Amino acid sequence: MKLIDTGLTKEQLIEKANKYLIDTAARFDFIEERAKGMYVYDTDGNEYLDFFAGIAVNNTGNCNEKVVAAIKEQCEDVMHTSVYPYTIPQALLAEKVCETIGMDKIFFQNSGAEANEAMIKMARKYGVENFGPRKFGIITARQSFHGRTFGSMAATGQPDNGCQIGFGDMTPGFKYAKFNDLESFKEAIDENTIAIMVEPVQGEGGVYPGTEEFIVGLRKLCDEKGLLLLFDEVQTGFGRTGEIMGYMNYGVKPDIVSMAKALGGGLPIGAICATSEVAKAFTPGSHGCTFSGNPVVCAAAMAQIDELIENNLSENAKEMGNYFMDKLATLPNVKEVRGKGLLVGVEFNEPLSSADIKHGCVDRGLLVTAVGKSIIRMLPPLIVTKEECDKAYNILKEAVEALM
Ligand SMILES: Cc1ncc(COP(=O)(O)O)c(C=O)c1O
Repeated sequence: MKLIDTGLTKEQLIEKANKYLIDTAARFDFIEERAKGMYVYDTDGNEYLDFFAGIAVNNTGNCNEKVVAAIKEQCEDVMHTSVYPYTIPQALLAEKVCETIGMDKIFFQNSGAEANEAMIKMARKYGVENFGPRKFGIITARQSFHGRTFGSMAATGQPDNGCQIGFGDMTPGFKYAKFNDLESFKEAIDENTIAIMVEPVQGEGGVYPGTEEFIVGLRKLCDEKGLLLLFDEVQTGFGRTGEIMGYMNYGVKPDIVSMAKALGGGLPIGAICATSEVAKAFTPGSHGCTFSGNPVVCAAAMAQIDELIENNLSENAKEMGNYFMDKLATLPNVKEVRGKGLLVGVEFNEPLSSADIKHGCVDRGLLVTAVGKSIIRMLPPLIVTKEECDKAYNILKEAVEALM
């Protein structure tokens, strides 16, 4: 839809949005009207280099041609049905995801939080049914982020953060331990624990990659103690970290993994994959979802995965990520550069504020996100080139220097 066809000015449309939309986001000051590949365009004709990818979603580029074609084609056949008939895109996507990431079974949801909700439910039911009524405890990491439904909020290890405050009691059954500290997780295990749940790279918490020792150590710890290992790969999945899934960087496998964001190529989807053994916890009636495996979204996801694999985009993420991170370390006033693949964070020394840097970048035509007070997070589409990394670096440098 184009603004010109509505008869409204930019200001009138923004006024309408602010009047009717419930305010949950600090929005950019422009209307996105069109997006293609590495670029986003607003209604004033301005171009923005996209180092944001709709928050780690548009991994094969904005409006990827093959993804768009797959959506259009599937819309002509079946757009939605109930969960009862089999559909072609759902069955084929189930096979593609399971075979690509080395898991046995999949259940489709609509978002990351919902996928985590399903992962938490499956782990708890597996524990209660196999080991007794109190065996549903899950240990997650401090500074983690798992979503905004009640289960995923409680799993989010940030009790002092706004996302948990003011909602009354959190769902019971969660304990928090220190990320990248195996001893802290060991100490948190008690007789009710059934699972440990972490992001392989903490994203919203400030871009902290799990160390090899930690992630491999967690797998070993879970095996020794008879616990399930759950990975939240909502942000890290589908090429972002230099492998199709983040856990593949560490040579370990989870018992359940959640995914969303980039899986749908721009359409909303979430999913969990589990081992056959653990997946038995869900039976008809114990879990469900109206839009589970929607045919249009599944067709988009198939095209997205094909594009990722055919163009070897996880390898590009690894190469460009290393190139970009080395370069970012030469920015003025940098405290630390962290990341894996193209999930990249730059922490600046205070008093530089990440919100100010973000606005400086957007004003200069670069989309980035701010996390915490001093961290800029960048997640470009995985098709990014060296030239585009250089361009992003130069804009970021200019934005930082303007604040010094
Ligand atoms: C690691 C992680 N888990 C879960 C979520 C929640 O996903 P959604 O916003 O699709 O519900 C996010 C969103 O940023 C995330 O980064």
